Amino acid sequence: MNILLTGGAGYIASHTIIELDKAGHSVFVVDNFANSQPEALKRVSTIIGKEVSCMEADVRDRQAMDNLFSLHKFDAVIHFAGLKAVGESVAKPLEYYENNMNATFVLLDAMRRHGCKNIIFSSSATVYGNPAIIPITEECPKGHCTNPYGQTKSMLEEVLTDVQKADPEWNVVLLRYFNPIGAHSSGLIGENPNGIPNNLMPYITQTAIGIRKELGVFGNDYDTPDGTGVRDYIHVCDLAAGHVAALQAIQRGCGLAVYNLGTGHGYSVLDVVNAFQKVNGVKVPYSIRPRRPGDIATCYCNPAKAMSELGWKARFGIEEMCRDSWNFQRNNPNGYECNQD
Ligand code: NAD
Ligand code: UFG
Repeated sequence: MNILLTGGAGYIASHTIIELDKAGHSVFVVDNFANSQPEALKRVSTIIGKEVSCMEADVRDRQAMDNLFSLHKFDAVIHFAGLKAVGESVAKPLEYYENNMNATFVLLDAMRRHGCKNIIFSSSATVYGNPAIIPITEECPKGHCTNPYGQTKSMLEEVLTDVQKADPEWNVVLLRYFNPIGAHSSGLIGENPNGIPNNLMPYITQTAIGIRKELGVFGNDYDTPDGTGVRDYIHVCDLAAGHVAALQAIQRGCGLAVYNLGTGHGYSVLDVVNAFQKVNGVKVPYSIRPRRPGDIATCYCNPAKAMSELGWKARFGIEEMCRDSWNFQRNNPNGYECNQD
């Protein structure tokens, strides 16, 4: 299939290009590089041995999207583009609502007008709020999102559901990602956050390499086995493969479909720190800090639906996730920028 990836230079999309290419799909990227660099795509080109076609544009730009869909005939769109920093979304709600909602509205309108009615949407476990059921199945009711970022994901799921309901020719797959970490085994691409990382794994790798002094562990008094927060970490390459499986569902004419993409295993913050230290033979100094506002104790999924309907399941364990995250950090101590010899 001929696939458009919005936000295609980002962390998850760059890994997804590789899986799509392996499966024989053609890809085209649109990205405004608000949170990524063209260098990521150059490195993907190195990995797959061919140029990645890309247009630098904002998905909110109606004219640009119209031109794009006039020039290319896409069979499906994977819509990754969006702002994703939870804390920043609390400080800048308008920017988050404006970017994430409008980009999707403009995209859906262009798709409709050009007769492309197949979309995979990057949703998030955040839509479950403080989950009513653990492990979380897709039947678990959506919960209250404590931040504007999460609200955009939850609202956009509703928008996409309504679009599909109004016109059953649409195939809409909502993929609820759990916590992607890890990197491609080449060490060429990985997560490259701007500034101080919000998420656990980039904070761990930057601490291990000496950019940060110590990891703050946000709370050790949760109702979990060791008191620290439990999450469903998934290797980004497994997550990427989930998109290829979702395209097969689209080809079968799935209508509206929702899938959790996680491993089904919950690991605490200290489990991850310990696995990282053990696998990589490096120290990660840490201290216990107060809970982070908005965090929940436990979040992991039941991924059985993706297995039974898509034939997809995660292959990598926490050791491989820690190994590959460290491999990328060690090869790119300053991210993408200072490694272009
Ligand atoms: P990322 O920031 O690395 O990638 C997002 C990409 O979208 C970036 O390249 C950015 O430049 C681009 N972008 C943003 N707004 C745009 C716009 N208006 N026009 C064009 N490009 C735009 O993030 P990621 O971690 O790869 O996440 C990809 C998607 O998955 C996002 O929608 C994110 O919310 C969602 N998601 C991520 C996680 C996670 O933990 N990483 C978890 C659940 C869901
Ligand atoms: N944590 C720390 N110290 C840190 C960073 C995180 O102790 O410096 C802890 C958190 O308290 C939490 C766990 O590590 O218990 C994971 O935190 P992350 O920030 O890595 O991930 P979250 O589960 O909070 O959120 C992530 C994404 C969201 C997404 C959600 C569900 O950031 O965008 O997963 O998919 F919505």
